[in-house]
Amino acid sequence: MLRKLLLTSLLCAAGAVQAATPMVTPGQSLAATCYNCHGPQGVSTAAIPSLAGRSAASIVETMTEYKSGKRTGTIMPQIAKGYTDAQIASIATYLSQQKP
Ligand code: HEC
Repeated sequence: MLRKLLLTSLLCAAGAVQAATPMVTPGQSLAATCYNCHGPQGVSTAAIPSLAGRSAASIVETMTEYKSGKRTGTIMPQIAKGYTDAQIASIATYLSQQKP
């Protein structure tokens, strides 16, 4: 009986944690793939530029140029090719909403 009660309360607690967690958008999780190099939440403290707070349009434009080969780079051309235009748009929107 006690075990059952304990299990029930554990399950309830887990449910409460899940309910309190804000929904993760596709843009948010895809943008996380940029943070290794561009800093947590797109805020860089190193040589690679920050992305947080840039306009979505400029991020989309740059990524599209990397993708097409119009803009050159060491790594970004390969990275940009790994995302669809829709994915790039959602990443750009999310990053533009982050505090620089
Ligand atoms: C492996 C490291 C790495 C990852 C991961 C990475 N970048 Fe980059 N990024 C760079 C480097 C290095 C540059 C400088 C250009 C170059 O050498 O390719 C750059 C440049 C850029 C620029 C141009 C910045 C400017 O001011 O010229 C944008 C925009 C950009 N990255 C967006 C992204 C986005 C969006 C992602 C995630 C989808 C991402 N990057 C993931 C390393 C990375």
